[in-house]
Amino acid sequence: MGSERMNAVGAFLRDRLPLSHFSYEEMVGKKLVPVHRMSWGYYFGGLVLFFFLVQLGTGVMLLFYYQPTVSDAHASVEYITKHVGGGALIRNLHAWASSCMIFCLFVHLLTTFAMKAFEKPREVTWVSGVILLMVTFGFGFTGYLLPWHQIAVNATKVGLQSIEEAGQYMPGALADFPRYVKELIQGEAAVGQATLSRFYALHVVILPLLTFATLGLHVLMVQLHGMSQGVDHPTGKTERFFPFFLLKDFSLWGLVFLAVITLALCLPFESLFAYPLFEPFDPLGSTPEGIKPEWYFFFLYYPLELLPFWVVMLAMNGGIVLLLAVPWVFRRTSRRTLSMIAAAAALYLVVMTLFGDAIHTFFKGVPG
Ligand code: HEM
Repeated sequence: MGSERMNAVGAFLRDRLPLSHFSYEEMVGKKLVPVHRMSWGYYFGGLVLFFFLVQLGTGVMLLFYYQPTVSDAHASVEYITKHVGGGALIRNLHAWASSCMIFCLFVHLLTTFAMKAFEKPREVTWVSGVILLMVTFGFGFTGYLLPWHQIAVNATKVGLQSIEEAGQYMPGALADFPRYVKELIQGEAAVGQATLSRFYALHVVILPLLTFATLGLHVLMVQLHGMSQGVDHPTGKTERFFPFFLLKDFSLWGLVFLAVITLALCLPFESLFAYPLFEPFDPLGSTPEGIKPEWYFFFLYYPLELLPFWVVMLAMNGGIVLLLAVPWVFRRTSRRTLSMIAAAAALYLVVMTLFGDAIHTFFKGVPG
C-alpha cells in the first residue's frame, strides 16, 4: 500500500513536472503552437511579460531619484517630473504600462480559462498564474501610495480600513486576524512613515522577488508542457514556436511599445483624473471629494459602495478560492461553456469599469 501511494505521488509529479522535457530541443526547438480561431489568445501572456519588463526598467530608473520618506517623497516625484531630463516620460511610461499590464492580464486570465489551458497537467501553471494576479494587484496597491499625495494617502487609508472591517464578519477566533494584517501592513497607529517604508519595501523588493520566482515557475511550466490545444476540435494545423511564433510575439511587443510610448509622450496619465494629483498630503487637510482607487479596482470598488460590505467580502474571498480551484472545479466543463463564463465575466468587468459610476449615481443619486 505504502509503495503504491509513493508510485501514485511519483506519477503525479512526473506528469506535472516533466523534467525529461528540460532541453532546448523539447522546450524551444520542437515546440509547436496550435493554429485555430482562438490562437490570438496565445499572445497575451507574452504581452503581460513585456509590460512587466517595461515596469521593471522604468521602475529602476525612478529609484535613482525617488525618496521614500513622508517629508521628501512628494517633492522627489515632482522633481522627477519637472526637472529630470526624460523624467516625466519615464513616470508616464510606468503609469501607462502598469494599466496596460493589468488589462492584458485580465485578457490572459479569461482566454486561458476559455481555452481550458488549466487542464491536467497544467494545474501548476494556472495556480502560479493566480498568485501572479494577486502579486500584480499588490504592485498596484503599494505603488499608488508612493507619491504621497492627498489622494494616495486617503485612498490607502480607505483600503486598509476595509481590511480591518472584514474582521466583523469572521467567527470569534479569527475576528482579530484582519486587524493584525492591517497593523502589519500599516506599521503604526495611523498611515505614516512606517506605512510608506513598508509599501516601498513591498513595491521595490518583496513583490518583485516574489514575481521573479513565480513567473520563473509559470514560464518554465509553459515551456515544459508546450501550448495547450485551446479548442475542443483542433484543426491539426500548427506553427513552429521558434522562430515564427516568437518573431510575431516580438513584432507585437514593438507595436504596443510604440503605442504606449506615444501615449506617455502625449497624454500625462494624471491628466485623466478629475482632481489634481499634485497636492502633497496634508494631515490637517480635508479628504478630497470623490477619491477612488485605480480603474482596475473598480470591479470591486463599486459593488463595495452599493452592496453590504459582507456580501462583497464573501464574494471576493469565495472568488479567490474558486479561482485557485478552477482546474479541479471545471475539469469536466466543455470549452464552449467555459467561453460563455469567460464572456460573462468580461462583460461584468467592462460594465463595472466603464459604467460603475453611472450605476452608482442611478442607485444612490450621487456619483460614486
Ligand atoms: C504577471 C502575470 C503573468 C505573466 C507575465 C504570464 C505569462 C505567461 C506566458 C508568457 C505564457 C505563454 C504564452 C501564453 O499562453 O499566453 C503564459 C501561459 C499561461 N498562463 Fe500566464 N502569465 C501571467 C499570469 C497568469 C494568470 C493570472 C493566469 C490565470 C490565472 C495565467 C495562466 C496561464 C496558463 C494556464 C497558461 C498556459 C497557456 C497554454 O498552455 O496554452 N497566467 N503565461
